[in-house]
Amino acid sequence: MANPWFETVAEAQRRAKRRLPKGVYGALVAGAEKGLTAADNIAAFDEVGFAPHTADLANAKRMATTVMGQEVSLPVLISPTGVQAVHPDGEVAVARAAAARGTAMGLSSMASKPMEEVIAANSKTFFQLYWVGDRDVMAAKVDRARRAGAAGIIATLDWSFSYGRDWGSPFIPEKINLEAVRRYAPQVALKPRWLWDFAKTKKLPDLTVPNMVPTPGDPAPTFFGAYGMWMQSPMPTWEDVAWLRAQWPDAPFMLKGVMRVDDAQRAVDAGVTAISVSNHGGNNLDGTPASIRALPAVAEAVGDQVEVLLDGGIRRGADVAKALALGAKAVMIGRAYLWGLAANGQAGVENVLDLLRDGLGAAMVGLGRESIDQFCRADVVLPPGFERRLGDDRPDAPVDVRPV
Ligand SMILES: Cc1cc2nc3c(=O)[nH]c(=O)nc-3n(C[C@H](O)[C@H](O)[C@H](O)COP(=O)(O)O)c2cc1C
Repeated sequence: MANPWFETVAEAQRRAKRRLPKGVYGALVAGAEKGLTAADNIAAFDEVGFAPHTADLANAKRMATTVMGQEVSLPVLISPTGVQAVHPDGEVAVARAAAARGTAMGLSSMASKPMEEVIAANSKTFFQLYWVGDRDVMAAKVDRARRAGAAGIIATLDWSFSYGRDWGSPFIPEKINLEAVRRYAPQVALKPRWLWDFAKTKKLPDLTVPNMVPTPGDPAPTFFGAYGMWMQSPMPTWEDVAWLRAQWPDAPFMLKGVMRVDDAQRAVDAGVTAISVSNHGGNNLDGTPASIRALPAVAEAVGDQVEVLLDGGIRRGADVAKALALGAKAVMIGRAYLWGLAANGQAGVENVLDLLRDGLGAAMVGLGRESIDQFCRADVVLPPGFERRLGDDRPDAPVDVRPV
């Protein structure tokens, strides 16, 4: 077999594409509508330049920090992703990889493995909730996470009703029945290694979402069943956010998907511990700018009141350095680890985390920063008009507010 190690995330993506059935790979690439936001998440990082030093470069690389009360060995966490069928070990493999590399993970409500199994593999697991059902249902889910020993909660509210992709949505079956086998068979036949991984476990992906039910082991809805339940649930208000946060007051709570300064301030008022500046990896309202463009204004506005993370478009260690220089305490990754998982299971996710660590280390050397908390705005150069100060009506806000 060829060397399973890959040297960049781009190579992991190529291997994922070769290995996965077309529909499964398509679900990972994701992106909504024309893919403007998904593309901008990447393009914007390319616009950020470095200002490296010549001498006095860094001899040490201190990357450890704490995020939502958890010690992490590098400022890169696993973002929650609800994808199925990438690898038979799914989120358990991801949790083991994150634990092996000393970092924390978010576990999606739409994940394929029960939270109890994932938390057993990595105690630094935050459970991610969508607003599905009413307050009683939400409280029961928080209670399950507490009983399971989750390290805290991530609430994701930015999922919008976005249909259609110009390049075509993958066919995701409701469950693996005869119709699914008929439609998937030609794709799967071309991907024998993927099939073999599942065949070895004597199980096909069952496409259920076991964390959607309040009691472990209860019959779980399918991915689409859960999607339907979410579509029927009323959209939560800021009052609901504060209420949800209060359901487990002594645990850390992240609000994921904040893009605007005014929303970040509301999140502070709701009592959250952390926010992630995020547009859901470009899977929501297409035309939303890259999260890295929105980060500086949000970080500046909330200061030290909450921890500010960023996710969207992180593909290399240099991207992590750029996000830290622009005000993030840490970042979360999505597609990067999913491609690693597809390419080489747990070892592939570890490989991705190692690449990000090495790349961040290289940036620290060049910028003369021995500790990640030394990164600052002067480390990077931004082209004019790079930032998007969304919802920034502070009287002292810079005048170059560019509506998108
Ligand atoms: C296939 C896929 C599934 C996702 N599922 C979820 C989810 O269930 N819950 C959630 O909060 N975010 C979800 N996200 C968003 C990620 O947590 C994260 O915000 C995004 O992937 C970051 O962008 P990146 O992929 O460029 O790193 C998903 C993203 C992708 C690509």
